[in-house]
Formats: sequence, C-alpha cells, structure tokens
Amino acid sequence: MEIVDTLGRPVRDLRISVTDRCNFRCTYCMPKSVFGRDYRFMDRKELLSFEEIERVARSFVRQGVEKIRLTGGEPLLRKDLEVLIARLAEIPGLELTLTTNASLLERKAVALREAGLDRINVSLDSLDDATFRAMNDVDFPVAEVLAGIDAAADVGLEVKVNAVVKQGVNDAGIVAMAAHFRNTGHTLRFIEFMDVGATNGWRMDDVVPAAEIVRRIDEVFPLEPIDPAYSGEVAQRWRYRDGAGEIGVITSVTQPFCGSCTRARISAEGKLYTCLFAVRGTDLRAIVRGGATDEELDLAIGEVWAKRSDRYSELRSEQTVARARVEMSYIGG
Ligand SMILES: C[S@@+](CC[C@H](N)C(=O)[O-])C[C@H]1O[C@@H](n2cnc3c(N)ncnc32)[C@H](O)[C@@H]1O
Ligand code: SF4
Repeated sequence: MEIVDTLGRPVRDLRISVTDRCNFRCTYCMPKSVFGRDYRFMDRKELLSFEEIERVARSFVRQGVEKIRLTGGEPLLRKDLEVLIARLAEIPGLELTLTTNASLLERKAVALREAGLDRINVSLDSLDDATFRAMNDVDFPVAEVLAGIDAAADVGLEVKVNAVVKQGVNDAGIVAMAAHFRNTGHTLRFIEFMDVGATNGWRMDDVVPAAEIVRRIDEVFPLEPIDPAYSGEVAQRWRYRDGAGEIGVITSVTQPFCGSCTRARISAEGKLYTCLFAVRGTDLRAIVRGGATDEELDLAIGEVWAKRSDRYSELRSEQTVARARVEMSYIGG
C-alpha cells in the first residue's frame, strides 16, 4: 500500500547505509580530528545482515519505493556487497544504485555489474591531485578514482560524478571538472557543502551557491536549463548548448527542495531516518530481530512515514545550525 506523509509526500527513494566505516577522511564528512584512531565504529553484529536489509527493502518497495541507493561510510568496504546487490536486484521494478568514493571500484566493477547494479555515483571533488589528496585526507590519488570511473563505464554502468564544492578549497577547479567530463556521457553534479552532522565546522561562508557554480561554467561552456527527469529529482539540470552533455547542481542550502523530498534513509544498524537532518531514528533492527511479521514491519514503517513532517532545509536558520545532528557517514549520504 502506498503511503504519504503529513505534507502529502510519498516514499519513493530509499538510501541504505551498509557500513559506517570509510577508508577516506574527507574533511567535510569524517574529519580526522573526530574520526581518528580512537573512534568506535559499529561491530559487525550491530550491522543489519543482508537478510535483514532485504526484508526492510521489500517492505519499503511494497509501500512505494522505486529506487534504492546503497551508501555508507564507504559501501564497497562491506564484505561481499555484491551478494546483497544480487538479492536486491531480484526485487521487481526497482532501480538499484550505489554511491562510492571509487577507491575499490576498479577491482569491483565487474562483480557489481554482474550482480545487477544499474547505476553508480562516484564522489570526486577535484581533478587536481594535491587538492583531492588534501580533501580525502588520506593522500588517495585522483588517478585511481578516474580508473574506477573508466572501469565502471566499461562494464556498462551509467556513471554520475558528484563533487562537493567548498569555497577556497576546490572551487577553483569547477570549470576544469566540467571540461574533463564534457563529452564523456558521465553527468557531473556539484553539491553545495551542507551543514550535515556536527563535526565538519560548517559555515555559510564555505558554501559556493549553485547559481555561482552554474555562472562560472556558463561563462566558458554556455548552458541552458532542462526539466527534471522525474518528480522529486534533487539536482537542477543544465545542458551544454553545444551538445556536449549535461551537468547538475544540488542546491540543498541555497534553494531547498524539502517540498518534493520522497527520501528515507536507513543507517547501517537499521535506524530509519526521514530526513538527513533528523536527530532521532526508529529502530527497525529491533523490530526485525524481535520477530515481527512482514505485515507488522510494513505497519511500523508506514506509521513513521505517515507522521513525517521534516523540512529542515527550508527552516534552516542560525538556531537550527546549532542543533544536534547525526553524521553523514552514519546516516548514509
Ligand atoms: C557520505 S558519502 C557515502 C558514500 C561514499 N563514501 C562516497 O563518498 O561517495 C555520500 C555523499 O555525501 C557527500 N557528502 C558528505 N558530507 C557532505 C557535506 N557536508 N555536504 C555535502 N555533501 C556531503 C559526499 O561527497 C558523497 O558524495
Ligand atoms: S564522503 Fe564518503 S569517502 Fe568521504 S569520508 Fe564521507 S563516507 Fe568517506
């Protein structure tokens, strides 16, 4: 049965975090000062098992979800991820995608494709090696991410490349990225640096507004707007007037899109969050491990969604920025 929340929004898009661990320490996501040697990540038994993830996923699909994205932490660090993908790929009518830092992609692309993955989003913030190494903060070279992108494309995965833009850190490379990905068939999307979590020291001054990103690219490679591919799409789309492809901008800070948000998130330990900026989640793991039937699980999820009224980004203000929030690497970006 299809469900809607208090603002009439259905649930269409589910993000599942499969691990809270990551081999990068992107300064805007898992700064070393917090996620250092002593940080306590979840134990294996705390994570939802593949069987549990599949049960929860099937419940969401019964209630309206059409797209599932696996994320994290770094999802490719989860052992045997392709086994989970193969299970989820069996669910009819579902689009299956993955967001990754691509550090392991060159090695895993074939297995992911064979398991039934449809698409992949690769996070890449700069083509400048020194800038990229500084942003991932583990000295990971850009060339290996580019090799991962090529490997994914070679096996027939549709690739999108996502770049978080931080003022004074990587914004000087925006046009170079556009130049690189024009004519490749890979859609490049720029994401405004968000005030998600409480550890990345977010300030409004660090945000490069999407309109400014578009302006800088348009100056060199003229752009024109295009309509969203589907309702609820979060990226604003632009195409190159010379036919070299398209880019997207994700304007969560300067032009929030809560009104059309159809997204639910599940943390690696099975907590359901109805907003990236939520403070508390609902413990689906306890429900599943407590022996709930499918009907009981559907009811529990449906009840949470029916009560949903989140629209944090539209209400963002000095007060809300100071509010407690869970981390992106935990909730799944
Ligand atoms: C949390 S990561 C998880 C998946 C994978 N490790 C990766 O980096 O693609 C998902 C996405 O969230 C983005 N992200 C993390 N922190 C962010 C922030 N503060 N503002 C905007 N995007 C952020 C990352 O750039 C990445 O594209
Ligand atoms: S953005 Fe992704 S790769 Fe970077 S620290 Fe966060 S989870 Fe890891």
